[in-house]
Amino acid sequence: MRIYLTNAGAVTLLEPLDFKRLDVLVDPQPAEQLERLIARIGQREGNEHLRLSPAVLRFISGHAGEPDWENGFAAMISYASQAGWVDAQGNVRAHLTPNENQAVVSEDEFKAAMRSLPAGVSAITTGIGEAVGGMIVSSLTSISAEPPLVGFFVNVTCSMAAPLLENGRFVANILSDTHGTVMSAFLTEKQGPDRFKRGQWVEGQHGPVLADALSSIECDIVNTEVLGTHRMIVGKIRKSSVHAANPMVHFNSGTHRLEAV
Ligand SMILES: Cc1cc2nc3c(=O)[nH]c(=O)nc-3n(C[C@H](O)[C@H](O)[C@H](O)COP(=O)(O)O)c2cc1C
Repeated sequence: MRIYLTNAGAVTLLEPLDFKRLDVLVDPQPAEQLERLIARIGQREGNEHLRLSPAVLRFISGHAGEPDWENGFAAMISYASQAGWVDAQGNVRAHLTPNENQAVVSEDEFKAAMRSLPAGVSAITTGIGEAVGGMIVSSLTSISAEPPLVGFFVNVTCSMAAPLLENGRFVANILSDTHGTVMSAFLTEKQGPDRFKRGQWVEGQHGPVLADALSSIECDIVNTEVLGTHRMIVGKIRKSSVHAANPMVHFNSGTHRLEAV
């Protein structure tokens, strides 16, 4: 098992079924960020080791409760205990391994690749009355049909990042090619009711609903995680509506109409 402390700010477990080793793979990253990640999973022991709680390993494994995994995990903890790596509190010692594989693309290469990705445009909304908020995203994506889940990514510096978490709910309104003014109001007006001056907005339980959106998808937030500059928001769909129209498509830094080929 390898806990991976990425410089994206996430904690993941690699090789959860390999009980022959236990270490913590660490991307190069600012010391403060690394210490925050370490605090989420255990305590530092000198420069080269951590103390990990078995409960943390069980939580991030994604396999706790499966009989085969439980047997392998119990054998690993028992082996570590005999080797003297488990302390009086039951915490296991694990080595910190620097990650040598750091080849990544530049920001320009990333942007060029992402400009090649056509995507729908959605107005994400949350709140009621004077406390409404909204933002434009092209990152809305389908996740799962059973249970019904969608997700999108919000920049942690965006004015919607905090209201989304406080309300715990949102509406994803998928824009048609007639919603240019709705989009520009969202992009140019200050956060709040001013962003809803254009378009047919009606109050909804999860946030403002755009009456003639291609689809309005009303969700409760069920999972979030910060990944690099953005926070992933996953919503369980409580209610949805659909209207036939042509989509607005974002591609190569501009908006387009869809044309049949
Ligand atoms: C077509 C388009 C797609 C966008 N997609 C996203 C997105 O997926 N996530 C995101 O955080 N911001 C996205 N943005 C930027 C936001 O709409 C917004 O402008 C930015 O987060 C600043 O928001 P604020 O003024 O409310 O703080 C997109 C902007 C455009 C024009």
